[in-house]
Amino acid sequence: MKILVVGSGGREHALGWKLAQSPRVTGVYIAPGNGGTALQERLYNVDITDLNALADFAEQKNIAFTVVGPEAPLAAGIVNLFRSRSLKIFGPTREATRLESSKNFAKTLMKCYGIPTAEYKTFSDADLAHSYIQEKGAPIVIKADGLASGKGVIVAQTINEAHCAIEMMLSENKLGSAGACVIIEEYLHGEEASFIVMVDGKHVLALASSQDHKRLLDGDQGPNTGGMGAYSQAPIITPQLHTRVMHEIILPTVRAMEQEGIHYTGFLYAGLMIDPQGNPKTLEFNCRMGDPETQSIMARLKSDFASIIEHALTGTLDATTQPEWDQRTAVGVVLAAHQYPYSPRKGDYIYSIPAQTETLIIFHAGTAIVNGKLVTSGGRVLCVVGLANSVREAQLIAYEAINSIQFDGMQYRRDIGYRALHSGN
Ligand code: AMP
Ligand code: GLY
Repeated sequence: MKILVVGSGGREHALGWKLAQSPRVTGVYIAPGNGGTALQERLYNVDITDLNALADFAEQKNIAFTVVGPEAPLAAGIVNLFRSRSLKIFGPTREATRLESSKNFAKTLMKCYGIPTAEYKTFSDADLAHSYIQEKGAPIVIKADGLASGKGVIVAQTINEAHCAIEMMLSENKLGSAGACVIIEEYLHGEEASFIVMVDGKHVLALASSQDHKRLLDGDQGPNTGGMGAYSQAPIITPQLHTRVMHEIILPTVRAMEQEGIHYTGFLYAGLMIDPQGNPKTLEFNCRMGDPETQSIMARLKSDFASIIEHALTGTLDATTQPEWDQRTAVGVVLAAHQYPYSPRKGDYIYSIPAQTETLIIFHAGTAIVNGKLVTSGGRVLCVVGLANSVREAQLIAYEAINSIQFDGMQYRRDIGYRALHSGN
């Protein structure tokens, strides 16, 4: 069977790489893909991004099912469109994607159904928002309601920063309609983790846990990015905490959506904050897999991913056996382009990428092949994943491989996995 993966990042490379290993899969088309997917065996880039053209392609190529990587096509209704044309696709509908595309929707749902999350209030009037900030003090978190390409969350350490965020979103409309309504929420202390599951409308299958590193610089300093590296398993998600997250957050959210008349299908990613006492709260929902979490999660998945998705598509996730995971830890380090995350430079030649081995996998993101040469074409360029029995060894494998890779302006963090190391793994 043939499968279509929509997207062009490291996440989509990892999804395609894993799906192509299924014995029944003859080819995975990636639309539009990147320089790495173009070179990978049994992956084929398709230069299409228009949703109707993607549906035409799936029909013509007799695609068994489509998997969607990023949120934008989901929010634009790719699942609604494919379903209306009887094409199989794994992802949430436009309506279900509101869990990610409207923070106000997600917060209201969590509040109504008692799902743990930070205390908050929603504002569209700047004066009222400023008074609320004065009343609450700092630190405090300001979030644009809509999708804002990673620019919509400001963790304000001072009252002044918080007022500036309100000015930027509500008075100057710098984020357009995405920032016309803002959530002001309580600052939560603790450690973050990514909890990603698959949902078939009713049943839920949890994937391995992971932890992302969102800041650009070592020690979680510098600006927020899409993610500079991730590892899986996240030791903070103990079996007990896993059970709590399923029963207090994931299952109640799927049931709440059902009560609101929305059958949730697709990946569901809960960004969690675990407080020092070990209690989880939901920071946000994403309606997709994480990037770069997917690269570390897929590196550890031993089961046939295509079969799991087929179960999800037929509403029988409860009938699948639990996925089998490589017991090793995967540490994925992102290599980013010069000037990322502000205005990443494109077109730098990339040299000497090591071959895949039993302990090393390199996923491409912002890469392209121009005149037969591999060049940078986006902010996050590669994700180098090391696999080993300890976090320390997995780090060493990834960083040793990075030593041989070169492109001008390459930036990366030297401490991916440091939290897991501190927890003794
Ligand atoms: P979000 O897109 O809502 O996950 O926010 C992006 C990042 O901002 C998160 O990964 C956290 O690091 C941080 N963040 C969001 N909400 C809060 C909060 N209530 N307290 C502390 N940090 C937060
Ligand atoms: N790694 C964070 C995200 O995918 O949203």
